[in-house]
Amino acid sequence: MIRPRRPLAVGVVADHYQELDRLYREVWGEHVHHGLWRTGRESPGEAVELLAGFVAGQAGVRPGDHVCDVGSGYGASARYVVKQFGARVTAVTIVPAQHAYAEATGPVNGNPRYLLRDWLDNSLPDTSFDAAYAIESTEHMDDKARAFAEAFRVLRPGGGLAVCAWIAAEAVRPWERRHLLEPICREGRLPGMGTETDYRALLAGAGFAVEAVTDISREVRGTWGICLRETLRRIRTDPATRAFLLSAASRNRIFLLTMARIWAAYRTGAMRYLVFRARRPG
Ligand SMILES: C[S@@+](CC[C@H](N)C(=O)[O-])C[C@H]1O[C@@H](n2cnc3c(N)ncnc32)[C@H](O)[C@@H]1O
Repeated sequence: MIRPRRPLAVGVVADHYQELDRLYREVWGEHVHHGLWRTGRESPGEAVELLAGFVAGQAGVRPGDHVCDVGSGYGASARYVVKQFGARVTAVTIVPAQHAYAEATGPVNGNPRYLLRDWLDNSLPDTSFDAAYAIESTEHMDDKARAFAEAFRVLRPGGGLAVCAWIAAEAVRPWERRHLLEPICREGRLPGMGTETDYRALLAGAGFAVEAVTDISREVRGTWGICLRETLRRIRTDPATRAFLLSAASRNRIFLLTMARIWAAYRTGAMRYLVFRARRPG
C-alpha cells in the first residue's frame, strides 16, 4: 500500500471535491471517473458511459435490482445504471456540492436515491442490495477493510460487487514512489493506494469471493491527456480558472501538477487501473 508521507487530515477528501467542484465539472463533466476507450474513437462522453456500463455489468446488475453506488460523485453513473439497466440505485457521497447537484437533476420516484453520508458509517440495512459498485472511491477511504465489510454487509448473499480502483504496481522503483505515487496520494487525497494483492486480500478478508480482475489501464489512461489539455486551455481562456490556480488560498490547486504525475505513472507502469469482480457467497 502506498501512503502519503504524512497522514491526511480529517475532511480533506470532501474538501478536495467541494473546492474543485466547478473545475471538475467544467473540465471533465458530471462523471468523475476515467473514460474507457474500447475502439479509441469514442468521445469522452461516450467513454465515461462505457466505463459505467462495464462496471454495472461486472456487478451483475439486472432490471429491477436494488443497487448501491459507493462514492457516487454527481450521481452520473447511478443515473446511467437506472436508465440503461432498469435498476433502483442508492448513491452515496460525502461531498455536499455533489449531493446538491445530483438532487437538482430531479430523481424520478426517488430513483436514484441520493444520500449525503460517509460510506464507512452508512447505516443502510443489512442484505438490502442485489448488487453494488464503487468507481474510484475506495482509494479515498483510509479504512478499506471497513469499506469492504460494509459492502459485504449491505449485499444479499449471492450479490455482486464491482470495484474500480487506481492501483499501485506490485514493485515500483524508488523514484516512481517518491515523485509519482506518494505525491499522487498526498495531493489527490488518497490515504492509501493499494496493489492488486492488497485489494484481493481486503476483499477476501471481508468475506468476498474474488471472481475476476480486469486490467483496463491502457484503455482508460487517455483520460489524463484530455484533462490536462482541457485544463491548460481553460487557463488560457477562462479568467476564473486562472484566478483559482494563481491564488495561494486555493487549497487544491496542486491537483494540476497531480494530473501530470498520474499521466506519467500510467506511462511508466507504476500505476494501473483494475476492475475487481467479487461476490458475497451464498
Ligand atoms: C473520483 S470520485 C468518483 C465519483 C463517482 N464514483 C463517479 O463515478 O463519478 C470519488 C468519490 O468518492 C466519494 N467518497 C470518497 N470517500 C467517501 C466516503 N468515505 N463515503 C462516501 N463517499 C466517498 C467522493 O465523495 C467522490 O464522490
